[in-house]
Amino acid sequence: MARPMFVVGNWKMYKTAREATDYIEDLIPLVEGSKANIFLSVPFTSIAPAAQYAKDTNIAIGAQNMNDAREGAFTGEIAGLMLKEAGAAFVILGHSERRHVFGETNALIHRKVLRALQDDLQPILCVGETLKEREAGKTEKILKEQIFTALDGVPKEDADSLILAYEPVWAIGTGKTATDRFIQEAHAFIRSCLSELFGKKKADEIPILYGGSVKPENAGEIAALKDVDGVLVGGASLDPKTFAEIARASGRQAGETTRETSAKTSAKKKAAASSASEKKKKAVSPKSRQRKSTKPRTEKKE
Ligand code: PGA
Repeated sequence: MARPMFVVGNWKMYKTAREATDYIEDLIPLVEGSKANIFLSVPFTSIAPAAQYAKDTNIAIGAQNMNDAREGAFTGEIAGLMLKEAGAAFVILGHSERRHVFGETNALIHRKVLRALQDDLQPILCVGETLKEREAGKTEKILKEQIFTALDGVPKEDADSLILAYEPVWAIGTGKTATDRFIQEAHAFIRSCLSELFGKKKADEIPILYGGSVKPENAGEIAALKDVDGVLVGGASLDPKTFAEIARASGRQAGETTRETSAKTSAKKKAAASSASEKKKKAVSPKSRQRKSTKPRTEKKE
């Protein structure tokens, strides 16, 4: 099954807006023509300037979190619509630091996923077990709980907008990466959960990324695994050269030969989907009328 390849940088709480634009200026020529979709998840204050700098390039800018409400008296919080207007195309939700440092529950992450879809932000839903859970043999149980709760009630047609990221908590920022076999098994399990939720055909199209100590040396091998459709990179995304190396290594797995054909196919699919969704919009709520699809670029993995 051909799926697009993604290389997502997660800067966490690093870089001022000025540093962000300097970085993007350096990154643009390094990833030009990349076969992977290049996403950068930046701090809130950098979204607008980063999106401005990345306009008309192959780099998409997104956020690392958002509130689950449309708007309201929530001091210090940020709404999806604000991110969207600032230029964000996607948002990371349920990152392990949000879960384990800030106490986010599966129920809250579920509400955020629904909100992001309503606000036309492509959610990148992160899931993953802790070391303790892994050692207790609970990896699949935890993944299932996280996925089924977060995606409960997501309409089948919105499955097209989802990206998942498997990030074993013990591999994040530790320099430890899971073995290829372990990663592939976890990804295949995640895809089986998606299949239960949305059917096999949809599940086969949802990108599942791997995250946790990804670097230029291991990115190519990880991205080549059957059910891995890209990487989510923390620490190693902070330097544009290193991040570009990861994009190059992963992009090699994206399959040059299918590129043009896939782009055309996807453009056709997109046109068909938008005409179908036009019809649907007439029949559904006013809120969904404002939504439009945030589709990834179209380079495909073999
Ligand atoms: P890391 O972080 O690459 O620094 O391990 C990954 C992440 O937190 O998404």
